Amino acid sequence: KKKDAVPWFPRTIQELDRFANQILTYGAELDADHPGFKDPVYRARRKEFADIAYNYRHGQPIPKVTYTEEEKKTWGTVFRELKTLYPTHACYEHNHVFPLLEKYCGYQEDNIPQLEDVSKFLQTCTGFRLRPVAGLLSSRDFLAGLAFRVFHSTQYIRHGSKPMYTPEPDVCHELLGHVPLFADISFAQFSQVYWFTVEFGLCKEGDAIKAYGAGLLSSFGELQYCLSDKPEIQSLNLEKTAVQKYPVTEFQPVYYVAESFKNAKEKVRRFASTIPRPFSVRYNPYTQRIEVLDN
Ligand code: TRP
Ligand code: FE
Repeated sequence: KKKDAVPWFPRTIQELDRFANQILTYGAELDADHPGFKDPVYRARRKEFADIAYNYRHGQPIPKVTYTEEEKKTWGTVFRELKTLYPTHACYEHNHVFPLLEKYCGYQEDNIPQLEDVSKFLQTCTGFRLRPVAGLLSSRDFLAGLAFRVFHSTQYIRHGSKPMYTPEPDVCHELLGHVPLFADISFAQFSQVYWFTVEFGLCKEGDAIKAYGAGLLSSFGELQYCLSDKPEIQSLNLEKTAVQKYPVTEFQPVYYVAESFKNAKEKVRRFASTIPRPFSVRYNPYTQRIEVLDN
């Protein structure tokens, strides 16, 4: 009887196919002041990308996309602006991996890298792979993907009128914000209490504070803002972050600073062990299954 209270969750990597059409939509769950909301050309293009994601099944190669000149121009602006900020604003690990992506994955100002190429590269680094998704998933579905080292990745690009910040994840966010750190072995293990770490986390580096959150590393507006004196900065505290409210479509009012990745990971583990659960689970990498351990 007690088992009925546990919501369904995927136990095999193939079952991630069920999440394909459960995305948050503009106008309904997300604010409708998206810069592309009233642009019919942009919306038609977004439909093409959504269809790729809806039809994708685990195991298939991710379809390659021919990006338009306008889309490449938007990417070029984001890439150029962020590249000038990374040396001073991004954490050491991000700066360390970035040149490898330029060398092996086509990261260039005039080229939007293909998800399939990046996915293959990540698999050789840390076993992470990408799968295309049409928009923002619920936290629950998104985190369930990470249990299999599958990272749901959008493939469309932000609207060209507002390159410095966009209110939803796009291919710039995935490729420039997340991918570099998913190539780092130590960081790749670290993917819970997601919002205030992996997405919007800051960390100490000597006397300085740097950004490692992907939502910061992909927005040249918010990357400058987060290290200015405007937002509130607190030290990482899982009891607080677990209940802290946050906006999804604007700059964050509060950031949490980790002492180091190692310290943040220890805090997450310690906190996670205090969460009551009816059973524990373990990922088996040989079968790519989640095993339920009843203890
Ligand atoms: N603002 C981010 C950027 O410009 C994209 C983004 C919007 C985002 N909402 C998000 C990223 C929520 C992560 C989570 O790149
Ligand atoms: Fe993200």
